[in-house]
Amino acid sequence: MNWKEIYAQRTVTAEKAVKAVKSGDHVFVAQSVAEPFSLTEALAADYKRLQDVEIFQNRPVKDSFFTTPESEGHIRYNLYFVGASTRKAVVEGRADFTPVFYYELPEIFDNQYPLDVAFVQLSRPDKHGYVSCGINVDYQLAAARKAKIVIAEVNDQMPFTLGDTTLHVSDIDYFVETSRPLPEEPAPEADEVGKAIGRYVASLIEDGCNLQFGYGAVPEAAIPYLTEKKDLGIYTEMFSDRVLQLIKSGAVTNKNNPIHPGKVISSIALGSKELYEYVDHNNNVFMYPVEFVNHPANLAKVPNLISVNACVQVDFMGQVNAETIGDMQFSGIGGQLDFVRGAAMSPGGKSIIVCQSTAKKGTVSRIVPFLDQGAAVTTTRHDVHYVVTEYGIAELKGKSLRQRARALIDVAHPDFREELGKAFEAKFKEPYQPVVHA
Ligand code: COA
Repeated sequence: MNWKEIYAQRTVTAEKAVKAVKSGDHVFVAQSVAEPFSLTEALAADYKRLQDVEIFQNRPVKDSFFTTPESEGHIRYNLYFVGASTRKAVVEGRADFTPVFYYELPEIFDNQYPLDVAFVQLSRPDKHGYVSCGINVDYQLAAARKAKIVIAEVNDQMPFTLGDTTLHVSDIDYFVETSRPLPEEPAPEADEVGKAIGRYVASLIEDGCNLQFGYGAVPEAAIPYLTEKKDLGIYTEMFSDRVLQLIKSGAVTNKNNPIHPGKVISSIALGSKELYEYVDHNNNVFMYPVEFVNHPANLAKVPNLISVNACVQVDFMGQVNAETIGDMQFSGIGGQLDFVRGAAMSPGGKSIIVCQSTAKKGTVSRIVPFLDQGAAVTTTRHDVHYVVTEYGIAELKGKSLRQRARALIDVAHPDFREELGKAFEAKFKEPYQPVVHA
């Protein structure tokens, strides 16, 4: 049979395709804007037939039936990243959270978390019978390669991206055809505080650096201040609209990309329709799976890699909590530590953690003597080179605990410095004196 015959034979309705899911199965579902809604909606409609099905997913972008009390006992989430649509279900014990490095997700599918079924969303086949994971290669490609049964929503509006993104139609068990726009998630605008942080971050970035920006408005706030730089490179997990603006400014040539000079390397594209159109068949953007893009051992070979990632709070030692508020799982590690470690090991690299000095409308300091009770350490004190707030840059690498604490209080909000200074004195048995820069 040629690929067209295979494709035609395996094309079914969503209702029929989801019958492949059996009670007790582990079902992978492609994440966020790449979720194959035709399949998840058909599964939700069929829930009564099923018991103890677990959906492994990252951040669904909209409210889902699987978080409701009605779904209990039938289908529940096991999330790798918590978002607005799933936070309540995790808090109420109706969904689970699994901590795992992003780059290791494909490996757990081989060992600890075998997949019975994968729900993926793919492009239309090309003339050779290959379908592309499009804007969402991350661990979707691995899930499709490893699951016992693969069900694909084939959306003719999913871009066909280049790099290592494709599967052959013969690798897929069922196709469900759709035509619908992908959800857009434009990057949030940085406010004045974010812009101040962005200016400090930009001062740490030199011509020729390779850049990764993490999730949220604050990590990307440096981008508008980089447009006059030369020969920057994008080597990242998440390609966004703001990164596209930087490319359009002419500051990016990817000249120092060690693997594919001249090309952007990414694993996901998340943003507007314009971004999705940009990555479609674009030979200057190579998308790769996370086990390659995010692996710290690979990132260590990328010269002058600068990682910029956000956090919830940083303690006096430089331990970073980027995913919990108190003991509540607020988000997840994402690729933060993958890139922080990679940048820390990269020749000439720098790992930068950014945060507004306060949260909750200025009532809480994000620089704290101790992380909150129950908080997770997302990034260890050994991995962070710089912490940047709107009050400046705290350089931590090679610094003692006493020096770190002092540098961090220096960039805390002035309203909290006295209180933090008292905690400093209690711990280090000397009064807090601001760092005097040469
Ligand atoms: N104490 C109490 N509440 C806090 C807090 C703290 N220390 N820090 C943040 N919050 C609250 C904020 O007030 C805000 O609440 P609100 O929306 O009611 O105002 C909420 O938590 C979100 O905080 P904010 O800092 O605005 O979030 P963000 O959208 O900028 O995301 C992270 C920041 C750290 C949560 C996010 O970047 C993340 O999940 N990172 C981990 C993954 C990662 O870094 N991936 C990078 C590779 S892509």
